[in-house]
Amino acid sequence: MNIKLYLKSKKSVVDNALEKYFFKNADEPTIINTAMKYSVFAGGKRFRPILCLEACKICGSRAKNVLPTACAIEMIHTYSLIHDDLPAMDNDDERRGKLTSHKKFGEAIAILAGDGLLTKAFEIIHPKVVKEIAVAAGTKGMVGGQVADIEMEDGRWKMEVGIKKINYIHLHKTAKMIEVSLRAGAVLSDASSVKIKALSNYGRKIGLAFQIADDILDIIGNKKKLGKTGSDLKNKKLTYPSIYGIAKSKQKAAALIKSAKNDLKIFGKKAVVLEKIADYIIQREN
Ligand code: IPE
Ligand code: IPE
Ligand code: MG
Ligand code: MG
Ligand code: MG
Repeated sequence: MNIKLYLKSKKSVVDNALEKYFFKNADEPTIINTAMKYSVFAGGKRFRPILCLEACKICGSRAKNVLPTACAIEMIHTYSLIHDDLPAMDNDDERRGKLTSHKKFGEAIAILAGDGLLTKAFEIIHPKVVKEIAVAAGTKGMVGGQVADIEMEDGRWKMEVGIKKINYIHLHKTAKMIEVSLRAGAVLSDASSVKIKALSNYGRKIGLAFQIADDILDIIGNKKKLGKTGSDLKNKKLTYPSIYGIAKSKQKAAALIKSAKNDLKIFGKKAVVLEKIADYIIQREN
């Protein structure tokens, strides 16, 4: 199985499902609908919704049971990117190969497009997982990680503090949403607590590795393939490479991927897709 082709086919499943949530409603100003669609359909790997679908599959349930929640997770993720790019945050001009939302629509509409996506997600998420997705996205999760990331930027960290803070930042700003994507897929499939726990552990580790890979790509990646320009050096961010250098960061990411794959042992042969996804995280070019 070619994992790149597999992910591409799953991305189109997610894209088709997402589309129906963005028909313009008569009560909604055209501009906000346009801005939300612009960022959601600008591209994006759909990594989190795909993980949600795969967790569901490996737990023996049907994709249609989790597809709305998977779409909602992508809406929360897209909101986080729009806000992450704002001048007050990372101040980036390109995202998913296009102008960032604030560059295209202005800051006010970009902020509101993020707000709109976050709120729309909670119209859609299955009630059974609403609490844990809210926690993963909020101040104890992604928002908390983003706050720590901003507090540490402009080189406002010394090595000892950096080593302590970097895992908090990456686990919260990125791994929590990836972990909950898998958990939601498993919980909505009525999986056993052992399976839910295994997928959570896998998710946390690949999530951390995902952000380490993102940090590395920010420096050495091909900007065109990435669809973003990379601003960590400009913003003097606390990142894995800034603490450990590129080579050691790669080693740490590889060790996390190995350990994550180990968490899948209880699924036997059924784990092949999630194993390949784990490997892909540290080999990807975008
Ligand atoms: C980018 O996420 C932000 C991080 C958490 C590293 P992705 O790399 O999943 O971005 P898209 O969704 O494919 O654009
Ligand atoms: C952002 O991390 C993580 C989010 C929660 C959005 P980055 O700031 O490194 O993401 P990119 O590199 O802009 O995609
Ligand atoms: Mg950022
Ligand atoms: Mg950023
Ligand atoms: Mg980055």
